[in-house]
Amino acid sequence: MTVYEPPVSIYGPVTDWATDFDHADPAYNRNAHAIWGELRDTCPVAHSDRYGGTWLPVTHETVREIAYDTENFTSRAVVVSTVVPDDPAPIGGAPPITSDPPFHHDARRLLLPPFSPKKIAEWEDEVRILCHSLLDAMEAKIAAGEPVDAALDYAQHIPVNVISRMLGFPLEDDDIFRGFVHDILESINGEPEERIRSFERIDAYLLAQIEDHRANPRDDLTSYLMDVEMYGEKLPDNMVGGVILLLLVAGIDTTWSAIGSSIWHLATHADDRRRLVADPSLMTTAIEEFLRAYAPVTMARLVAKDHDFHGCPMKKDEWVLLPFPAANLDPAEFADADKVLIDRQENRHAAFGLGIHRCLGSNLARLELRVAVEEFIARFPDFELDGTVDDVVWSVGQIRGPRELPVRVPNR
Ligand code: HEM
Repeated sequence: MTVYEPPVSIYGPVTDWATDFDHADPAYNRNAHAIWGELRDTCPVAHSDRYGGTWLPVTHETVREIAYDTENFTSRAVVVSTVVPDDPAPIGGAPPITSDPPFHHDARRLLLPPFSPKKIAEWEDEVRILCHSLLDAMEAKIAAGEPVDAALDYAQHIPVNVISRMLGFPLEDDDIFRGFVHDILESINGEPEERIRSFERIDAYLLAQIEDHRANPRDDLTSYLMDVEMYGEKLPDNMVGGVILLLLVAGIDTTWSAIGSSIWHLATHADDRRRLVADPSLMTTAIEEFLRAYAPVTMARLVAKDHDFHGCPMKKDEWVLLPFPAANLDPAEFADADKVLIDRQENRHAAFGLGIHRCLGSNLARLELRVAVEEFIARFPDFELDGTVDDVVWSVGQIRGPRELPVRVPNR
């Protein structure tokens, strides 16, 4: 199992979060709630010269306005990095997330059947069996007196296993997939040449999987994507590869982070943990509240043309981060926005995005998150953090979640 180091930045440490921010600085995700809170009060749209120019709106209103504005902002590239992909709009390299209207609508429609609520519900038993086997392995480690980690031993394995099964990819390649996702989402402020090489490695792997499915078709999502037609024709291999890459990237780090953050909350808030264990009927509202309070996904856009955004002179091809997690913490949108209320009744959070790109995998994400939390607290009703909050290692970049989360289970 690989534990990834933060990338070596070509920019160096951040000096000021309002004028020089960098979401790939390890201090950003660790302190994100405080940084967003301060920016919201002082500078609701921050700017940094890094990555060729990047804007960071932090209010719900500005994040929503940009997410809905597909004229002034393009999704051609959605991960801020030292390399801007050259795939042109409106398709981009990983449809539909990199696509703009009108193409986006048609590309998105292809993915609706395999991610429908009914299709996803069929996965519940498999997710539960997987969680049991991971928890069995954790119990064995505890019995042997070894330390256990809720991110490394549990959360990180669940989404990668499920999406690999859906795609019909070798389950033993899970470390390779996590490596891809790490390269794409975390190694964003490194040397551009290394980033380009990592994309070439990913493309070669995906094309080999497509060839394997061509030679041995089977009943899985990869074969579905190779058979499905758009405008009366099958998809070219590079588009099949782009959609698969999106599913790997969108499906793995996001849900792993959501599971990890939920367990982090329960490990550090014993009252909420005891309450949820005692009253499982709170699970639905608790899961939605964890998604609101610890939303893992910030997406990005490129500015499509020079324009003024509420006094900010945005220039074509500058980046704009869309921190849905910051929008979820805006007191102008949510009462008691800074409190985690596991019985919150009204909760129209933006964890799954706003506008036309709203998450297509939300049924699967909610299923994995709910089952993972249910099974974890059923097995370990009285777990807690092992050490202090400083022993928790957070991801870097646009997906926020714990990457190392040491826990201990008293009396075991
Ligand atoms: C807790 C877990 C997840 C969260 C918080 C999340 C969040 C998001 C967000 C915020 C977007 C909007 C992107 C944008 O505006 O540019 C998005 C899009 C998307 N997500 Fe998720 N996601 C999660 C899990 C998943 C899973 C498990 C899958 C599938 C395997 C998935 C597939 C997608 C796809 C295909 C899109 C693109 C939709 C489009 O462009 O029309 N997501 N997700």
